[in-house]
Amino acid sequence: MSYHSPVLLKESVDALEIKPDGIYVDVTFGGGGHSKEILSRLGENGKLFAFDQDPDAHKNALEDERFTLIPQNFRYIQRFLRFYGAKKVDGVLGDFGVSSHQFDQAERGFSTRFDAQLDMRMDQKAEVSAQHIVNYYSQDDIANILFQYGDLRNGRAMAKVIVAAREEKKIETSFDLKEVLAAFLPKAKEHKILAQIFQALRIEVNQELEVLKEFLTQIPEILTEDGRLSVISYHSLEDRLVKRFIQKGMFEGEPEKDFYGNFSVPMAKVGGLIVPTKEEIKNNNRARSAKLRIAKLKN
Ligand SMILES: C[S@@+](CC[C@H](N)C(=O)[O-])C[C@H]1O[C@@H](n2cnc3c(N)ncnc32)[C@H](O)[C@@H]1O
Repeated sequence: MSYHSPVLLKESVDALEIKPDGIYVDVTFGGGGHSKEILSRLGENGKLFAFDQDPDAHKNALEDERFTLIPQNFRYIQRFLRFYGAKKVDGVLGDFGVSSHQFDQAERGFSTRFDAQLDMRMDQKAEVSAQHIVNYYSQDDIANILFQYGDLRNGRAMAKVIVAAREEKKIETSFDLKEVLAAFLPKAKEHKILAQIFQALRIEVNQELEVLKEFLTQIPEILTEDGRLSVISYHSLEDRLVKRFIQKGMFEGEPEKDFYGNFSVPMAKVGGLIVPTKEEIKNNNRARSAKLRIAKLKN
Protein backbone atom coordinates (compact mmCIF):
# COMPACT_ATOMS: atom_id res chain seq x y z
CA MET A 1 0.00 0.00 0.00
CA SER A 2 1.41 3.43 -0.86
CA TYR A 3 2.18 5.79 2.03
CA HIS A 4 0.07 8.70 0.76
CA SER A 5 -1.21 10.07 -2.58
CA PRO A 6 -0.46 13.79 -2.69
CA VAL A 7 -3.51 16.05 -3.10
CA LEU A 8 -3.62 19.10 -5.42
CA LEU A 9 -0.01 18.33 -6.22
CA LYS A 10 0.48 20.42 -9.34
CA GLU A 11 -1.71 23.31 -8.20
CA SER A 12 -0.07 23.68 -4.77
CA VAL A 13 3.49 23.49 -6.13
CA ASP A 14 2.72 25.77 -9.13
CA ALA A 15 1.53 28.27 -6.51
CA LEU A 16 5.06 28.50 -5.08
CA GLU A 17 6.36 29.87 -8.42
CA ILE A 18 9.59 28.02 -7.78
CA LYS A 19 12.87 29.76 -8.50
CA PRO A 20 15.58 27.23 -9.31
CA ASP A 21 17.94 28.70 -6.70
CA GLY A 22 15.29 29.35 -4.07
CA ILE A 23 14.82 27.99 -0.57
CA TYR A 24 11.52 26.19 0.08
CA VAL A 25 9.81 24.52 3.02
CA ASP A 26 7.33 21.64 3.00
CA VAL A 27 5.95 21.68 6.55
CA THR A 28 4.02 18.40 6.21
CA PHE A 29 6.43 15.97 4.57
CA GLY A 30 4.42 12.71 5.03
CA GLY A 31 5.19 10.41 2.11
CA GLY A 32 7.15 13.20 0.42
CA GLY A 33 4.86 13.61 -2.62
CA HIS A 34 4.92 17.40 -2.55
CA SER A 35 8.60 17.50 -1.58
CA LYS A 36 9.59 15.38 -4.58
CA GLU A 37 7.66 17.69 -6.89
CA ILE A 38 9.38 20.76 -5.40
CA LEU A 39 12.82 19.14 -5.79
CA SER A 40 12.05 18.26 -9.40
CA ARG A 41 11.61 21.97 -10.10
CA LEU A 42 14.67 23.19 -8.16
CA GLY A 43 18.11 23.67 -9.69
CA GLU A 44 21.27 22.31 -8.13
CA ASN A 45 21.64 25.31 -5.81
CA GLY A 46 18.07 25.22 -4.58
CA LYS A 47 17.20 23.97 -1.08
CA LEU A 48 14.23 22.22 0.47
CA PHE A 49 13.55 21.85 4.19
CA ALA A 50 10.77 19.48 5.24
CA PHE A 51 9.07 19.15 8.64
CA ASP A 52 7.16 16.18 10.01
CA GLN A 53 6.55 15.30 13.63
CA ASP A 54 5.74 11.65 12.95
CA PRO A 55 8.70 9.23 13.05
CA ASP A 56 6.90 6.99 10.51
CA ALA A 57 7.27 9.80 7.95
CA HIS A 58 11.00 10.13 8.63
CA LYS A 59 11.54 6.75 6.98
CA ASN A 60 10.57 8.41 3.68
CA ALA A 61 13.40 11.00 3.90
CA LEU A 62 14.79 11.74 0.43
CA GLU A 63 18.37 11.06 -0.57
CA ASP A 64 19.15 14.39 -2.12
CA GLU A 65 21.83 16.91 -1.15
CA ARG A 66 19.37 19.76 -1.51
CA PHE A 67 16.97 18.18 1.01
CA THR A 68 16.95 18.45 4.83
CA LEU A 69 14.36 16.72 6.99
CA ILE A 70 13.53 18.50 10.25
CA PRO A 71 11.79 15.99 12.53
CA GLN A 72 9.79 18.59 14.44
CA ASN A 73 6.39 20.18 14.81
CA PHE A 74 5.96 23.00 12.30
CA ARG A 75 4.67 25.25 15.09
CA TYR A 76 8.40 25.94 15.65
CA ILE A 77 9.09 26.70 11.97
CA GLN A 78 11.01 29.94 12.46
CA ARG A 79 13.19 28.61 15.26
CA PHE A 80 14.29 25.54 13.30
CA LEU A 81 14.80 27.36 10.01
CA ARG A 82 17.08 29.78 11.86
CA PHE A 83 18.93 26.84 13.35
CA TYR A 84 19.56 25.55 9.81
CA GLY A 85 20.71 28.99 8.68
CA ALA A 86 17.60 29.97 6.69
CA LYS A 87 16.28 33.31 7.92
CA LYS A 88 14.07 33.92 4.89
CA VAL A 89 12.59 31.44 2.44
CA ASP A 90 10.99 31.76 -0.99
CA GLY A 91 8.01 29.55 -0.33
CA VAL A 92 6.22 27.50 2.31
CA LEU A 93 3.85 24.65 1.52
CA GLY A 94 1.49 23.02 4.03
CA ASP A 95 -0.76 20.01 3.41
CA PHE A 96 -2.41 19.66 6.80
CA GLY A 97 -4.05 16.80 8.62
CA VAL A 98 -3.39 13.11 8.65
CA SER A 99 -1.69 11.00 5.97
CA SER A 100 -3.32 7.89 4.49
CA HIS A 101 -0.57 5.89 6.19
CA GLN A 102 -1.58 7.26 9.60
CA PHE A 103 -5.25 6.43 8.89
CA ASP A 104 -4.45 2.95 7.62
CA GLN A 105 -2.25 1.87 10.53
CA ALA A 106 -4.85 0.48 12.93
CA GLU A 107 -2.67 0.94 16.01
CA ARG A 108 -2.41 4.71 15.50
CA GLY A 109 -6.09 4.93 16.43
CA PHE A 110 -7.08 7.56 13.82
CA SER A 111 -9.58 5.43 11.97
CA THR A 112 -13.13 4.53 12.93
CA ARG A 113 -12.73 1.32 10.92
CA PHE A 114 -10.48 -0.58 13.32
CA ASP A 115 -10.74 -1.63 16.94
CA ALA A 116 -7.57 -0.03 18.30
CA GLN A 117 -6.36 1.89 21.34
CA LEU A 118 -7.70 5.45 21.20
CA ASP A 119 -4.40 7.15 20.46
CA MET A 120 -4.43 9.70 17.56
CA ARG A 121 -1.11 11.32 18.48
CA MET A 122 0.80 12.38 15.37
CA ASP A 123 3.86 12.78 17.56
CA GLN A 124 4.06 9.59 19.59
CA LYS A 125 6.09 11.36 22.26
CA ALA A 126 3.21 13.72 23.05
CA GLU A 127 1.50 13.23 26.40
CA VAL A 128 -2.18 13.57 25.61
CA SER A 129 -3.87 10.81 23.60
CA ALA A 130 -7.55 10.48 22.71
CA GLN A 131 -7.81 7.89 25.46
CA HIS A 132 -6.63 10.46 27.99
CA ILE A 133 -9.24 12.96 26.81
CA VAL A 134 -12.24 10.63 27.08
CA ASN A 135 -11.12 9.22 30.44
CA TYR A 136 -9.73 12.26 32.24
CA TYR A 137 -11.03 15.54 30.75
CA SER A 138 -13.98 17.15 32.51
CA GLN A 139 -17.48 16.66 31.12
CA ASP A 140 -17.60 20.33 30.08
CA ASP A 141 -14.29 20.14 28.25
CA ILE A 142 -15.35 16.99 26.37
CA ALA A 143 -18.66 18.65 25.48
CA ASN A 144 -16.88 21.74 24.14
CA ILE A 145 -14.44 19.68 22.09
CA LEU A 146 -17.24 17.64 20.49
CA PHE A 147 -19.31 20.74 19.82
CA GLN A 148 -16.58 23.06 18.58
CA TYR A 149 -14.24 20.69 16.75
CA GLY A 150 -16.76 18.08 15.60
CA ASP A 151 -19.75 20.36 15.02
CA LEU A 152 -21.82 17.90 17.08
CA ARG A 153 -24.95 19.65 18.30
CA ASN A 154 -25.54 16.97 20.94
CA GLY A 155 -21.93 17.12 22.20
CA ARG A 156 -23.17 17.95 25.68
CA ALA A 157 -25.35 14.84 25.88
CA MET A 158 -22.54 12.70 24.45
CA ALA A 159 -20.09 14.03 27.05
CA LYS A 160 -22.52 13.12 29.84
CA VAL A 161 -22.77 9.54 28.57
CA ILE A 162 -18.97 9.28 28.24
CA VAL A 163 -18.41 10.47 31.81
CA ALA A 164 -21.05 8.06 33.19
CA ALA A 165 -19.53 5.14 31.25
CA ARG A 166 -15.94 5.78 32.31
CA GLU A 167 -16.97 5.63 35.96
CA GLU A 168 -17.92 2.00 35.34
CA LYS A 169 -15.02 1.03 33.11
CA LYS A 170 -12.11 2.82 31.40
CA ILE A 171 -12.77 3.62 27.72
CA GLU A 172 -9.73 2.17 25.98
CA THR A 173 -10.43 1.46 22.34
CA SER A 174 -12.27 2.97 19.41
CA PHE A 175 -14.87 0.23 19.63
CA ASP A 176 -15.32 0.90 23.39
CA LEU A 177 -16.14 4.49 22.49
CA LYS A 178 -18.50 3.38 19.72
CA GLU A 179 -20.31 1.15 22.18
CA VAL A 180 -20.60 3.88 24.80
CA LEU A 181 -22.05 6.29 22.22
CA ALA A 182 -24.22 3.70 20.44
CA ALA A 183 -27.44 5.60 21.25
CA PHE A 184 -26.14 8.58 19.22
CA LEU A 185 -25.16 6.50 16.20
CA PRO A 186 -28.23 5.56 14.12
CA LYS A 187 -27.17 3.13 11.38
CA ALA A 188 -27.81 5.55 8.51
CA LYS A 189 -25.59 8.25 10.03
CA GLU A 190 -23.15 6.13 12.03
CA HIS A 191 -20.18 6.67 9.76
CA LYS A 192 -20.63 10.45 9.48
CA ILE A 193 -21.15 11.02 13.20
CA LEU A 194 -18.23 8.80 14.17
CA ALA A 195 -16.01 10.68 11.73
CA GLN A 196 -17.04 13.96 13.43
CA ILE A 197 -16.29 12.53 16.89
CA PHE A 198 -12.90 11.25 15.78
CA GLN A 199 -12.08 14.53 14.05
CA ALA A 200 -12.89 16.45 17.24
CA LEU A 201 -10.66 14.24 19.39
CA ARG A 202 -7.84 14.34 16.84
CA ILE A 203 -7.90 18.15 16.69
CA GLU A 204 -7.65 18.33 20.49
CA VAL A 205 -4.95 15.64 20.79
CA ASN A 206 -2.71 17.36 18.26
CA GLN A 207 -3.73 20.93 19.19
CA GLU A 208 -4.25 21.40 15.47
CA LEU A 209 -5.86 24.83 15.57
CA GLU A 210 -3.38 26.33 18.03
CA VAL A 211 -0.50 24.94 16.00
CA LEU A 212 -1.94 26.33 12.77
CA LYS A 213 -2.32 29.79 14.31
CA GLU A 214 1.24 29.81 15.65
CA PHE A 215 2.52 28.66 12.25
CA LEU A 216 0.61 31.28 10.24
CA THR A 217 1.67 34.08 12.56
CA GLN A 218 5.34 33.39 11.78
CA ILE A 219 4.91 33.33 7.99
CA PRO A 220 5.19 37.10 7.36
CA GLU A 221 8.58 37.11 9.11
CA ILE A 222 9.87 34.12 7.19
CA LEU A 223 8.90 34.86 3.59
CA THR A 224 11.07 36.87 1.22
CA GLU A 225 9.46 39.90 -0.41
CA ASP A 226 7.93 37.90 -3.25
CA GLY A 227 7.80 34.56 -1.42
CA ARG A 228 4.65 32.43 -1.51
CA LEU A 229 2.52 30.58 1.01
CA SER A 230 0.55 27.61 -0.39
CA VAL A 231 -1.64 25.71 2.07
CA ILE A 232 -4.15 22.88 1.76
CA SER A 233 -6.79 22.49 4.51
CA TYR A 234 -9.18 19.59 5.00
CA HIS A 235 -11.84 20.96 7.33
CA SER A 236 -13.65 24.24 7.67
CA LEU A 237 -12.10 25.17 11.05
CA GLU A 238 -8.63 25.06 9.51
CA ASP A 239 -9.66 26.77 6.29
CA ARG A 240 -11.39 29.53 8.22
CA LEU A 241 -8.19 30.34 10.14
CA VAL A 242 -6.12 30.41 6.94
CA LYS A 243 -8.64 32.57 5.11
CA ARG A 244 -9.00 35.03 8.01
CA PHE A 245 -5.27 35.33 8.54
CA ILE A 246 -4.73 36.13 4.87
CA GLN A 247 -7.63 38.62 4.76
CA LYS A 248 -7.35 40.28 8.14
CA GLY A 249 -3.98 39.33 9.63
CA MET A 250 -5.76 37.92 12.69
CA PHE A 251 -8.01 35.04 13.70
CA GLU A 252 -10.77 36.68 15.74
CA GLY A 253 -12.35 40.11 15.77
CA GLU A 254 -11.61 42.95 13.39
CA PRO A 255 -8.32 44.78 12.79
CA GLU A 256 -8.18 48.40 13.88
CA LYS A 257 -8.86 50.81 11.05
CA ASP A 258 -7.00 54.10 10.52
CA PHE A 259 -8.66 57.50 10.05
CA TYR A 260 -9.49 56.63 6.43
CA GLY A 261 -11.08 53.28 7.29
CA ASN A 262 -8.10 51.24 6.04
CA PHE A 263 -6.41 48.51 8.02
CA SER A 264 -3.01 47.07 7.41
CA VAL A 265 -2.50 43.32 7.05
CA PRO A 266 0.79 41.51 6.42
CA MET A 267 -0.40 39.16 3.65
CA ALA A 268 -2.40 39.38 0.43
CA LYS A 269 -4.19 36.54 -1.31
CA VAL A 270 -2.98 35.32 -4.67
CA GLY A 271 -5.91 34.14 -6.82
CA GLY A 272 -9.02 32.53 -5.38
CA LEU A 273 -9.79 29.32 -3.57
CA ILE A 274 -8.66 26.19 -5.45
CA VAL A 275 -10.37 22.82 -4.97
CA PRO A 276 -9.61 19.46 -6.63
CA THR A 277 -11.22 18.53 -9.93
CA LYS A 278 -13.94 15.85 -10.03
CA GLU A 279 -11.37 13.65 -11.71
CA GLU A 280 -8.91 13.99 -8.82
CA ILE A 281 -11.65 13.25 -6.26
CA LYS A 282 -12.70 10.19 -8.27
CA ASN A 283 -9.12 8.89 -8.19
CA ASN A 284 -8.37 9.90 -4.60
CA ASN A 285 -11.27 10.14 -2.20
CA ARG A 286 -9.06 11.85 0.42
CA ALA A 287 -8.97 14.90 -1.86
CA ARG A 288 -12.71 15.52 -1.52
CA SER A 289 -12.54 18.12 1.24
CA ALA A 290 -9.26 19.78 0.21
CA LYS A 291 -9.08 23.57 -0.13
CA LEU A 292 -5.96 25.33 -1.38
CA ARG A 293 -5.25 28.97 -0.56
CA ILE A 294 -2.25 30.96 -1.78
CA ALA A 295 -0.82 34.17 -0.37
CA LYS A 296 2.22 36.44 -0.51
CA LEU A 297 3.43 39.40 1.50
CA LYS A 298 1.57 42.63 0.94
CA ASN A 299 3.89 45.25 -0.47
C1 LIG B 1 -1.61 15.05 4.74
S1 LIG B 1 -0.06 14.48 5.26
C2 LIG B 1 1.06 15.20 4.11
C3 LIG B 1 1.29 14.36 2.91
C4 LIG B 1 2.37 14.86 1.99
N1 LIG B 1 2.07 16.15 1.44
C5 LIG B 1 2.65 13.86 0.89
O1 LIG B 1 2.56 14.25 -0.29
O2 LIG B 1 2.92 12.70 1.19
C6 LIG B 1 0.27 15.44 6.68
C7 LIG B 1 1.60 15.11 7.35
O3 LIG B 1 1.93 16.22 8.17
C8 LIG B 1 2.35 15.77 9.42
N2 LIG B 1 1.94 16.81 10.37
C9 LIG B 1 0.69 17.19 10.69
N3 LIG B 1 0.73 18.18 11.59
C10 LIG B 1 2.04 18.44 11.83
C11 LIG B 1 2.72 19.38 12.66
N4 LIG B 1 2.05 20.24 13.42
N5 LIG B 1 4.07 19.39 12.63
C12 LIG B 1 4.77 18.52 11.85
N6 LIG B 1 4.16 17.60 11.07
C13 LIG B 1 2.82 17.57 11.05
C14 LIG B 1 1.66 14.46 9.66
O4 LIG B 1 2.43 13.65 10.54
C15 LIG B 1 1.57 13.88 8.25
O5 LIG B 1 2.66 13.04 7.96
